[in-house]
Order: sequence, then structure tokens, then C-alpha cells
Amino acid sequence: MPQTPVIYVLNGPNLNLLGVREPHIYGHDTLADVQTICEAASDGDTIVFRQTNHEGELIDWVHEARIEAAALVLNPAGYGHTSVALLDALKALTIPIVECHLSNPAARERFRHRSYVSPVATGIVSGFGPISYDLAVRAAVRLARERAAAADRSVQAKEA
Ligand code: DQA
Repeated sequence: MPQTPVIYVLNGPNLNLLGVREPHIYGHDTLADVQTICEAASDGDTIVFRQTNHEGELIDWVHEARIEAAALVLNPAGYGHTSVALLDALKALTIPIVECHLSNPAARERFRHRSYVSPVATGIVSGFGPISYDLAVRAAVRLARERAAAADRSVQAKEA
């Protein structure tokens, strides 16, 4: 029987403080609430949900997702605006990447307008609070399934 596809949802620095950190921007839901939202949106796929405050650890998990995941949802938080190393790690992935933000960085301070993740993201969901994660996981699941179906079709075409 084929294995259940795995969707990685990786969260960068300070997102462990969701619910208490600048609630006027990020809302009152905690990271555990966001995880529940992601699991509810997974449509049966397995969600691997993690958060770190450390750039190297985030990069190690991106490397892991390259091997283990059918798609990646990434809220890079502050590292999205600063980390060339994160961009380089993401460039090694061939799976769909959905960049996800609770707030809309484009509507905030100028330094948040640059994202090192966006150029390699398949798509971006931002500005909807925790609903961003719901939409991002749904998109990741569908993109992963479309990719798997396309791979099946190409195998069948080769066998025909
Ligand atoms: C964020 C937006 C970033 O600018 C910020 O540094 C974060 C959270 C968001 O989810 O809205 O930490 O990624």
C-alpha cells in the first residue's frame, strides 16, 4: 500500500510566542492552535509541524523535508527577510514550497517587503492570520497530489 504523503509545516523564530507576541498583529491563537488548524486541513496527509528559533536547525529541517516531504509549508518569520542560507537550502528542493505568513508583510515596514523565500516559493499565502495556514496546507496537499499524478502519468507513458 502506498505511504501517506507527508507535508512539512516549518515555523521560524518567535512563532513559539504566538498568542502573547504582538497580538494586535498576530492574533490570540497559539502555535498549538495553528498546528490543530494544519492537521484539520491535511485531508488525510501526515503533518510534520515544527518551530525553531535557530537558523541552522530550520535549514536542517528544510534538508530533511527535501527527502521526506511531498510538500513544504514554511513560515520563515524574521529569517525570510534576512537569510541567504535559507534561500540556498530551499533551492535544493524539488517539492512544492508554500510560503506562509500570518500578517501581510507587504503592508508593513519596508524591511519586511524583501523575502528571500518568495523567489523559490511555488506560491505565497499571507495576511489571513491562522487562516493563512489553513489555505497554505490545502494548497500544499493539492500541489503534492498533482505532482504525484503527473509523475504517475510519465511512468505510464514510458511503459506504454
Ligand atoms: C511573519 C511576518 C514576519 O515579518 C515576521 O518577522 C514574523 C512573522 C508572519 O507570520 O506574519 O515573525 O512571518
